[in-house]
Amino acid sequence: MTHARRPGHPVLTTTRDELVAALTPAPARRAVIMTMGALHPGHLALVEHARRLADQVVVTIFVNPLQFGPAEDLDRYPRDLQGDLTLLAAAGVDVVFAPTVEVVYPDGDPTVTVSAGIFGEVLEGAARPGHLDGVLTVVLKLLHLVRPDVALFGQKDAQQLMAVRRMVRDLDVPVRIDAVPTVRDSDGLALSSRNAFLSPEDRVRACGLSAALFAGAARAGSGADAVRAATAAALRSAGLEVEYLALVDPVTVAEVGDRYSGEAVLALAARVGSTRLIDNVPLTLR
Ligand code: PAF
Repeated sequence: MTHARRPGHPVLTTTRDELVAALTPAPARRAVIMTMGALHPGHLALVEHARRLADQVVVTIFVNPLQFGPAEDLDRYPRDLQGDLTLLAAAGVDVVFAPTVEVVYPDGDPTVTVSAGIFGEVLEGAARPGHLDGVLTVVLKLLHLVRPDVALFGQKDAQQLMAVRRMVRDLDVPVRIDAVPTVRDSDGLALSSRNAFLSPEDRVRACGLSAALFAGAARAGSGADAVRAATAAALRSAGLEVEYLALVDPVTVAEVGDRYSGEAVLALAARVGSTRLIDNVPLTLR
């Protein structure tokens, strides 16, 4: 038997027992979308994709302290559970799991955690030490708690997606991982909960990130060096403070050489005002 979808009536669960009750009986196919809340149309695109795949769609909302560094924005990370529930109700989600920190980490910070390996050492990993270990640890826990057939992640957090795929493969986690393309505003800015921190002027400057990525991707037919050069030139003329710009193999996260051909991800991180933004585009190098 499968859970009927009841738009307007997702079951809100906050404890493990409530979650187990809401997941029973097991549907033919369950999908999970893990979020930190402050939902936007990018998250809703994941829900829409999940609804096409699964009989039961579960959304988790949990701002995971383990993935924030001591000087990062854990305290000011946007939180709006009521707003999120309204959006998820309209999107036809079946179950929402919004636990407290004590429910997820009943013994305090976990002693045993997942190591992101090389993914935790380069690019986002280098800029945010421990971040991807914290992400993978909570993702694995939530996969165990929700027991989905498929988990959906946005391409927007490309390195997170790569690391999750690798964890699932290396640790034989029985779940399929689907990626959903980044949702952008009409001016190209990738949707992100952190866009809420941008002033109107910063919001305009932030469009320089996607504009640079598109300028780079337009040179994909000319090889990796041409892509890097076009992206760097566009970033320079936008006057953005870039933390990293990388063109990497999507499986190994290694920088690709100029003779590389195949799938790659052009990724960057930049600071706009006091807000750190990341963005990327997948492309095929020839
Ligand atoms: O992408 C996010 O929102 C978070 O990193 C995730 C996957 C929900 C883990 O906390």
